[in-house]
Amino acid sequence: MTVKVLFVCLGNICRSPTAHGVFAQRVRDRGLAQHIEVDSAGTGDWHIGHAPDPRSIQQARKRGFDLSVLRARQVTADDFRRFEFILAMDKKNLADLQRLSPATFTGTLDLFLRFGNDLPVEVPDPYYGEDADFSHVLDLVENAADGLLDHLQQQYRW
Ligand code: 4NP
Repeated sequence: MTVKVLFVCLGNICRSPTAHGVFAQRVRDRGLAQHIEVDSAGTGDWHIGHAPDPRSIQQARKRGFDLSVLRARQVTADDFRRFEFILAMDKKNLADLQRLSPATFTGTLDLFLRFGNDLPVEVPDPYYGEDADFSHVLDLVENAADGLLDHLQQQYRW
């Protein structure tokens, strides 16, 4: 049995693909790929099928993460059956997910940065920002990815 983790933002081209790529790499680095599946999605539909924003790809590549193969998709009702952890980048994403969430969902639906150490609760949307804003997304995501993996390793005793 694998634990399935879904990262969600608005467009699925900046923040959640960054979380997807970073977390998947951390999972491989810790030798946990047989235990964890990772995906990402957006609450919006504007960028379905698109690669991540070039600024996200570039900032991630500088730190050794490859986001270029990822493609955007929209969250579906089926995601609440498939994923045990659905983690939102900001409070608006979380509120939208809570509206979509069926009563039968028994997994964890929360803000991703709650798993981080000494972080704010939201990943700010960098889409209308500059390179530094995209780099800041990586700072937040790397921190929370480590915390989330620590949490999962404790919970599942891997
Ligand atoms: P993301 O950023 O939610 O981190 O992928 C955005 C990407 C696109 C848009 C908004 C936010 N947009 O309005 O198209």
